[in-house]
Amino acid sequence: MSGSTGIAILGAGLFPGMAYLPALVTLSSVGAIPPLKAIYSRSEKSAKELAGVAAGSLGVTAEIYFDQPESAERNLDALLARTDIAAVIIALPITVQPAIILRALKAGKHVLSEKPVAANVKTGLDLIKEAAPFVAKGLVWRVAENFEVEPVYVKVRELIAAKKIGEVQSFKASVKVYLDQTSEWYNTPWRTKPEYQGGFLLDGGVHTSAALRTMLPNFTSSQIISFASLNKEYLAPKDTIHAIVKSDSYNGTLDFTWAWPTRSHPNSDETVIMGSTGFVGIARRKVEEGGGWRVTVNSLASSSPQEYKETEDTYEFKSSGVVEEFRSFFDVTFGGRKEDGLVGNPKNALFDVALIQGTLNSEGQLLDLGELWVKG
Ligand SMILES: *[C@@H]1O[C@H](CO)[C@@H](O)[C@H](O)[C@H]1NC(C)=O
Ligand SMILES: *[C@@H]1O[C@H](CO)[C@@H](O)[C@H](O)[C@H]1NC(C)=O
Repeated sequence: MSGSTGIAILGAGLFPGMAYLPALVTLSSVGAIPPLKAIYSRSEKSAKELAGVAAGSLGVTAEIYFDQPESAERNLDALLARTDIAAVIIALPITVQPAIILRALKAGKHVLSEKPVAANVKTGLDLIKEAAPFVAKGLVWRVAENFEVEPVYVKVRELIAAKKIGEVQSFKASVKVYLDQTSEWYNTPWRTKPEYQGGFLLDGGVHTSAALRTMLPNFTSSQIISFASLNKEYLAPKDTIHAIVKSDSYNGTLDFTWAWPTRSHPNSDETVIMGSTGFVGIARRKVEEGGGWRVTVNSLASSSPQEYKETEDTYEFKSSGVVEEFRSFFDVTFGGRKEDGLVGNPKNALFDVALIQGTLNSEGQLLDLGELWVKG
């Protein structure tokens, strides 16, 4: 897989250092990966910092590119003009990312770009339309939505498809995040004063949507009724939503808040899926216990109430979604595997934006997510 052609990372914020480089290290420990040749950031300083971390962890010398200070040999166009870079992985602020995805595609690069695909459905639809001719010519564009490939959600999808809990009848998905003004995430300027709907609700909520559409059958044809609120002023515009979801064959609830009062959480599962003959509970494991998730599956094991019996299975999962999404992206861009539209499909990522947009705008009105998703 390695050779003279390599990859570049565009964006040198928190996530590339925390997740991208470790994922590349993990993948390079089990096989050849395309070499990291360049790093771009708006500022020379952050590009240099991330390149320093890459040198230490991956043992590569990535050349740096930046906008400030201005330099024609070191700007993004110069990076995109390099013929030895075949693919770029982009993690830039939500509002600037769509234009850069298009610049990269126009320059003939394969693209893996961070979620959310866009700040709102309209921008996302336009982006997908403008990207289509490049994709038709054979370039790969995927959205990096790691929850689609997290082993925990893939496993629950398999359990549900195998009818371990019978027919899905309802679910609840709960997100409770404590975030104060000292958080490094809060202190990314584009997140402190977001110029996009929902703030952290959009940035983080799309993941839960992706997890739900990965696990639940036909989740994308749901309708919703929602209320959105702001509980902590510094998390404006909105930090909390409560929604009821009605799908073809099941109903459910969403409660997402980034205004949780404490670092500790109540002792309950964050997602529960109820079926006709059992249930699945998904809980986050404490970092002290190794992090990741614990899944519990309880199923009725007898058909007669007189001889009541049930079984319980538990599974534990570490988080490896970023590694999996990179592996899958490299398989199609460098490994010759055919794109099948299943992982990282921008249209599916746009559904997640539609779900959050719907929860922010419903104000108690019933909204059809399927319609919002395709029309904006
Ligand atoms: C999903 O929707 C399709 C089309 O409406 C339907 O045929 C199918 O049975 C549904 N699947 C489940 C698991 O509900
Ligand atoms: C979901 O809600 C609808 C009411 O809109 C109801 O008719 C349907 O039975 C519910 N489905 C389940 C599985 O509870």
